[in-house]
Amino acid sequence: MAVLYLSDPARGAVFHAAFAKALPDIAFHIGEAPDPLAVCWLVTWTVPTDLKRYPNLRLIFSVGAGVDQFDLAALPPGVGVVRMLEPGIPQQMQEYVTLAALALHRDLPAYLGQQRSGLWKAGRNMPAEDRRVGVMGLGVLGQAALAALRPFGFPLAGWARSLRQIDGVECFTDLDAFLARTDLLICLLPLTAETEAILDAGLFAKLPRGALLVHAGRGRQLDHAALIEALDEGQLSAAVLDVTAPEPLPHGHPLWSHPQVILTPHVACQTRPVDGARHVIGAIRADLAGTPIPGLVDRRRGY
Ligand code: NAP
Ligand code: GLV
Repeated sequence: MAVLYLSDPARGAVFHAAFAKALPDIAFHIGEAPDPLAVCWLVTWTVPTDLKRYPNLRLIFSVGAGVDQFDLAALPPGVGVVRMLEPGIPQQMQEYVTLAALALHRDLPAYLGQQRSGLWKAGRNMPAEDRRVGVMGLGVLGQAALAALRPFGFPLAGWARSLRQIDGVECFTDLDAFLARTDLLICLLPLTAETEAILDAGLFAKLPRGALLVHAGRGRQLDHAALIEALDEGQLSAAVLDVTAPEPLPHGHPLWSHPQVILTPHVACQTRPVDGARHVIGAIRADLAGTPIPGLVDRRRGY
């Protein structure tokens, strides 16, 4: 039985060393497998086109938290898909969301603009108690983000498909009611058919006027033109974006230089190879033991 690793080779070497220690009886190949029939597990960001070469494949592991880069419907029916669950991912998302939410709450985009034009002009600091924060997606990352923001005193809410119960967080399944009470919206949804382009003009119109946006889900969830229009027209005040479609944005795209936008190059979270390898090893052990596989995705649901 073998693992085939198809992502960054330097990170693959870290996985290889961890496998040699933890599962020495399982072969670990980077880039190519000498015996495709032995490949039971694939660790990758994208699915290779020649998947038929691996008829004994059991699981495909994403090296990231998201699995939207896979065409789930096109994969062989018996093959499971596993997302990356390692503690560095929610930890880094906590850092990113805190950075972005505080930057918006404390008017950083406006002050950066003032600095560039040599203007020293203090605005009014809004108390955190008056800034209602709402998180779209209440999974691993949404809940981590809410926990990180709790100490600042923002009134917190979250929206998900199923009704969740989270201490100190008003949980919604009704999107309109959630948006109506949200001054600072944070999107941490997985990309699925239902969430594609969810951040559109209609959604922005349901937020209180002058609302703020942090988007660290996936670029295709955002209607970029609608965002620019909402910013230019004042429905939104500012945004921090970690993800766009495409990545990177084309040269000259208005979001590169929009004064109310802070753009980061999809860096909210990066899988740490030592912890990533630990997750994959644990999941393979579970697969071999016939116990529940941590991070196994519901292929029909898409996350
Ligand atoms: P997760 O644990 O699977 O949680 C997903 C959450 O989204 C769940 O609460 C789910 O609702 C909710 N949801 C899904 N579809 C929905 C819909 N149609 N309507 C309402 N709620 C919906 O996922 P996660 O680990 O938190 O990760 C979320 C996403 O973050 C990833 O898929 C990835 O795209 C993105 N991400 C970005 C970065 C970055 O660097 N920018 C890093 C890692 C991940 P239920 O609770 O009802 O199931
Ligand atoms: C990054 O975006 C990930 O999915 O881990």
